[in-house]
Amino acid sequence: MAESSRVLRVADVVAETAQAHSIVFDTEELDYKPGQFLTVRIPSDECGSVARCYSLSSSPYSGEQPRVTVKRDGYASNWLCDNVRPGSELEILPPSGVFTPRSLDEDLLLFAAGSGITPVMSIVRSVLGDGEGHLTLVYANRDENSVIFAGALRDLAARHPDRLTVMHWLESVQGLPTTEQLRALATPFAQREAFVCGPRPFMSAATSALKSLGLPRSRIHTEKFVSLGGNPFEIAEREQRRSKSTQAAQTAQSPTTLTVSLDGTQRTLTWPRDRKLLDHLLDEGMDAPYSCREGQCSACACRITSGEVKMLNNEVLDSEDIADGIVLACQSLPITDEVSISYE
Ligand SMILES: Cc1cc2nc3c(=O)[nH]c(=O)nc-3n(C[C@H](O)[C@H](O)[C@H](O)COP(=O)(O)OP(=O)(O)OC[C@H]3O[C@@H](n4cnc5c(N)ncnc54)[C@H](O)[C@@H]3O)c2cc1C
Ligand code: FES
Repeated sequence: MAESSRVLRVADVVAETAQAHSIVFDTEELDYKPGQFLTVRIPSDECGSVARCYSLSSSPYSGEQPRVTVKRDGYASNWLCDNVRPGSELEILPPSGVFTPRSLDEDLLLFAAGSGITPVMSIVRSVLGDGEGHLTLVYANRDENSVIFAGALRDLAARHPDRLTVMHWLESVQGLPTTEQLRALATPFAQREAFVCGPRPFMSAATSALKSLGLPRSRIHTEKFVSLGGNPFEIAEREQRRSKSTQAAQTAQSPTTLTVSLDGTQRTLTWPRDRKLLDHLLDEGMDAPYSCREGQCSACACRITSGEVKMLNNEVLDSEDIADGIVLACQSLPITDEVSISYE
């Protein structure tokens, strides 16, 4: 088992729709933020195991047990929906991700489609339960039967009529939403910080609508649901076997000086030129966030505040993120003699 992973026992499995199940974990000790996700290890006869990310749909503040919500879409999601029962055990990596509001007191504009409601639901439950923000949710689905959390959203809107407005969009009735149609729905709320999650065409229509209303990129948060190609559990196990002495022997060039701001503290370290940033921070005992370790999920994203790095692979950050100084720690090697990074 990877050092950073843990096993959680399943307390319950709830059928949300014919295609989507929530898996409720039997623990009160999971430290997560609204909108974050877990990486779950799923057994495979072909390759031992695969890893997939699933967003938490519960609120970390309500005292409820943490839950993820999985919609059938392929190998791993079908396996989870078919095999997980109360009492099953699942290996997970710590919660991670940056699709999380800065404050629960701010008004937010939320766009979700299909299973993209999962992290958004965590945000909705958290803001309504523990904050003062007002929420407008535009929620698109194929048809009425595929609306995950339909009942829960109805109850929340009834309990908080002044703070939660849900605008349902059904493809079976209205067709696929276009940029212009989403723009019209978003116009009265265009000053609000926005969160967008769903299938790729929906996300691109929603982000184009928000940008056309003048919302700066830094206020548009997106979560892309992709299947991890690599297996971070196996990478972590491999890394554990790699001894410190091997690392030292492989480092020929003089190291970079690295300053890291993480969890409210600042540390200065030496950083071997051939060691990826995330691997080095974990070697040094720092609690840096990650999931895929392959440049595919953005869980390890941090900001370069001085110096330069090069990324070996990047499948998630766009040119605007990179221009803002965001990099993927799991793919970064140093270029300059001094580098400063921040996770704040
Ligand atoms: C940060 C994050 C959070 C996520 N949160 C959730 C969540 O809360 N709920 C949820 O249900 N999912 C979530 N996902 C998605 C989830 O991790 C999986 O990607 C999803 O369950 C599909 O995995 P799978 O193994 O079931 O399907 P896969 O076998 O990976 O297939 C996924 C899709 O890709 C297609 N596909 C597979 N292989 C190919 C190929 N070679 N060529 C073309 N198409 C292919 C399949 O037909 C299918 O439509 C999240 C992903 C990320 C990165
Ligand atoms: S951990 Fe997924 S991109 Fe780095």
